[in-house]
Amino acid sequence: MLWILGAKGLLGSALALKCGQKAILSGHELEISNFEALRAFVGENQGITRIINCAAFSQVDAAEQRREEAYLANVRGPENLSLIAQEIGADLIHISTDYVFAGNVKKPQTENDPVGPCNYYGQTKLEGEQKVLSFGQCVIRTSGIFGGKGNNFVSKLLHMLQTQKEVRLTDDQWGRFTYAPDLAGALLQLGHLKGLYQYANTGVATKYEFGLALRSEALLLGLPVVTESIIAVPSSTFPSPCKRPIYSAFDTTKIERHVSIRSWREGLRDYLCAQLPVYL
Ligand SMILES: NC(=O)c1ccc[n+]([C@@H]2O[C@H](COP(=O)([O-])OP(=O)(O)OC[C@H]3O[C@@H](n4cnc5c(N)ncnc54)[C@H](OP(=O)(O)O)[C@@H]3O)[C@@H](O)[C@H]2O)c1
Repeated sequence: MLWILGAKGLLGSALALKCGQKAILSGHELEISNFEALRAFVGENQGITRIINCAAFSQVDAAEQRREEAYLANVRGPENLSLIAQEIGADLIHISTDYVFAGNVKKPQTENDPVGPCNYYGQTKLEGEQKVLSFGQCVIRTSGIFGGKGNNFVSKLLHMLQTQKEVRLTDDQWGRFTYAPDLAGALLQLGHLKGLYQYANTGVATKYEFGLALRSEALLLGLPVVTESIIAVPSSTFPSPCKRPIYSAFDTTKIERHVSIRSWREGLRDYLCAQLPVYL
């Protein structure tokens, strides 16, 4: 039986949706930094053989101030889960991030390239990965997730395109975007993996390029869009409490030996098609 932690979050909810009734789900009511609570949970839910951890303190800016919370969720949590997985003999996949890289080299980074997070969130995620890998389990890094439940940058961007005549988007930070249902499908296929992998939809883009694509795909589908101009701006236009990687489009060759990955634009089309019923 599969246990999904963080099942109410962006990725976890997409994963839970793919599994239907065939998984045990937990949200933040089960505190991942509380080892005894996790142990009691597996005691009450016998038969867990696979664990996918989507729970995390994922607010990048807030992590700079709320360091204790970020550390507990992103380092202590995965360490606890690795111990629990070892105790019950389960396979663990832990989700990590492209933010473990400094992002100052304009070249796709592989799993073997040096890390060097430029903010506290990235630092905690890196320490969390190291804990899980030290137990011989699996870590999958991902980036720019969109398309699950709740708000994410694509749902916010779509709202902007439907309410603002002019939208400003950054064109000096590059990344790879990930359609949550695609990653969820891959995670369900990859339960046997051990070690470090990276997964994102194919293709590198800035938010500006993503915004242009979102507008043309939305118009093609007949969704209401009022934005007349999308303007490329430097990231300094939107000051933030912490640094972010400039180039964080990582390499996914290693995981593509096990699973095929489509382009972010195809994922984006599916995302928009899933929004259509709202407008009918
Ligand atoms: N979103 C992205 O673009 C992105 C990019 C790269 C990597 N990732 C990684 O992908 C994974 C999933 O991210 P996501 O975007 O789905 O995050 P998310 O939407 O914030 O979901 C994370 C879930 O974890 C729960 N949680 C937080 N602290 C917890 C704790 N101490 N104990 C138990 N549960 C806790 C949250 O509950 P509450 O909301 O109630 O606090 C939330 O439901 C994370 O590992 C993240 O680092 C995400």
